[in-house]
Amino acid sequence: MFTRIQAVLCSLMLCLPACADAVPLPAVPELQRRMAAAPIEVEVVEPQPVAAGERPHVVYLGYPVAKVLRLILGAGWKTAGASVEFRALDGYVSHVPVERFDRYPAYLVFAKKDTREFRLDNLVPHGQGVSLAPYYLVWDNIRHPELLKEGDTYWPYQVHEIALLPAAGVAGEMSPDALDLEKYCLSCHRVNGRGSSKVPQDLALQTKALGEARFLAWVLAPTSVKPDTGMPAIAGGMAEADRRALAGRLFRYLNALPRQ
Ligand code: HEC
Repeated sequence: MFTRIQAVLCSLMLCLPACADAVPLPAVPELQRRMAAAPIEVEVVEPQPVAAGERPHVVYLGYPVAKVLRLILGAGWKTAGASVEFRALDGYVSHVPVERFDRYPAYLVFAKKDTREFRLDNLVPHGQGVSLAPYYLVWDNIRHPELLKEGDTYWPYQVHEIALLPAAGVAGEMSPDALDLEKYCLSCHRVNGRGSSKVPQDLALQTKALGEARFLAWVLAPTSVKPDTGMPAIAGGMAEADRRALAGRLFRYLNALPRQ
């Protein structure tokens, strides 16, 4: 039973009844019923790596994510310093600081316009196309072309659960390096138990074992080390010097982390 004390504790921690636990997203017809509004058309430049480096425009159908978050997490979802965790079916997670939703319009989409297919075409390296269902988080990178250089960071697909992570211990106290690690790496990796379950090994330990030269070679161009890897090259849309600087900072940060 959900007691009043639990309710007070949860409201203090700024999360939902099952504190910090993920909330499943409803099936699409149920979401449409609860939103009580027709989905809108959202045109974006597809940032996921598709064939031959193409960046096609795609029109999706969905809802402004802020409205969905309000419906699912309640009016208090937008709390300074908090992040929203989007969890995908395969263990991928994306932590989006809530402030970002004020800066850039984002949408939770569940279909493509004019086709029954809700998949990425020709996603390399798999070649077959990958299902985006049930939900895909997309950003208006047409009105905000500066988002293009971030690539597919913050574009989780196969999203089936969300959770609100309160400020303390998430974005609140984090250094710029920790935030970049979260943004670029912890959607697939984990460090000291934090992050995704997709790659089970601890990334800090892997980094120390590799050493700087092999780490940089790997992170800047994973397919040149292992052609069939599922890991994308770091920040593909950035200038080469910026990518190298980012990779170098992440190496120093990971290499210096104390073992836990
Ligand atoms: C989309 C998922 C994904 C993201 C994002 C990602 N990785 Fe990986 N990474 C993988 C996978 C999968 C492997 C396992 C290697 C393989 O077999 O493909 C891996 C392996 C590694 C390894 C071990 C390499 C070795 O030779 O032992 C390191 C180090 C690494 N990643 C660093 C990073 C860093 C740093 C970032 C952030 C800049 C990052 N990864 C982002 C998926 C990802």
